[in-house]
Amino acid sequence: MTASSDVAGSAAVDPRARRPAGSAYFSCKDVHSYYGESYIVQGVDFDIAEGEIVALLGRNGAGKTSTLRTIARTDVPELRQGEIWLDGRPLHTMKAYEAAGEGVGLVPEDRRIIQGLTVAENLQLAQIAPPVGWSIERIYELFPRLGERRNQEGTTLSGGEQQMLAIGRTLARDIKLLLLDEPYEGLAPVIVQEIERTLEQIKAIGITTVIVEQNAIAALRLADRAIILDTGRVAFDGTAQEVLDNAELRQEYLAI
Ligand SMILES: Nc1ncnc2c1ncn2[C@@H]1O[C@H](COP(=O)(O)OP(=O)(O)OP(=O)(O)O)[C@@H](O)[C@H]1O
Ligand SMILES: [Mg+2]
Repeated sequence: MTASSDVAGSAAVDPRARRPAGSAYFSCKDVHSYYGESYIVQGVDFDIAEGEIVALLGRNGAGKTSTLRTIARTDVPELRQGEIWLDGRPLHTMKAYEAAGEGVGLVPEDRRIIQGLTVAENLQLAQIAPPVGWSIERIYELFPRLGERRNQEGTTLSGGEQQMLAIGRTLARDIKLLLLDEPYEGLAPVIVQEIERTLEQIKAIGITTVIVEQNAIAALRLADRAIILDTGRVAFDGTAQEVLDNAELRQEYLAI
């Protein structure tokens, strides 16, 4: 009966107030992670407010993907030091499936559409375990192209359509933090614009999002804030507008 005694012991605590006062919705605190002996994420610290969109930028190899994977608690890179908190939950103590259950939604760069399944089946599979997020009909409203192609095998979609399916599949789960790794990679400008418009809609709904992009200007247009990584550390943390206005900063860390 430990559960009931716990409840009795914390009767004065509002169960909705899971986060200690003053703590951020999401935070990485001195996060270090490794691929074997390769030390890659070298003490990353940042907070994100609920509903904020953050562009995580930096040159090739700066550690952007590794940071997203560390947050999502994938097997590699291995988190060896630091804490990661989402809405009062300690992600640093969890495995990837547990972090996913707490609402971390990673859309990986390679999209991972499941072979042999239709668009509809790929979306249904995401809803096999609760908590369920958006209905499949709502995902088709956001991405009409997916609705038109619901019976087509997912791996035969165009690159842009596969990116839509990868994002749609993540929204099909009940997520609190959307992690997008290069959603515009390899896509024609017209498709980038189409996905940008969808991300604007996701932003309007208020889903807390981290977007990693080589196309920094596109990411900064969408984002409220920008964090620039350099060799596994935070080199800049400020508003997206500050980066857009600061040519020196862009030249030094983004080469644009
Ligand atoms: N599985 C791995 N094993 C060993 N080292 C790795 C592994 N994956 C990435 N790295 C190294 O970690 C560093 C950071 O890589 P990461 O993929 O996080 O960079 P990135 O900022 O996402 O770069 P890009 O813009 O090219 O995608 C790089 O030096 C890379 O070679
Ligand atoms: Mg990367």
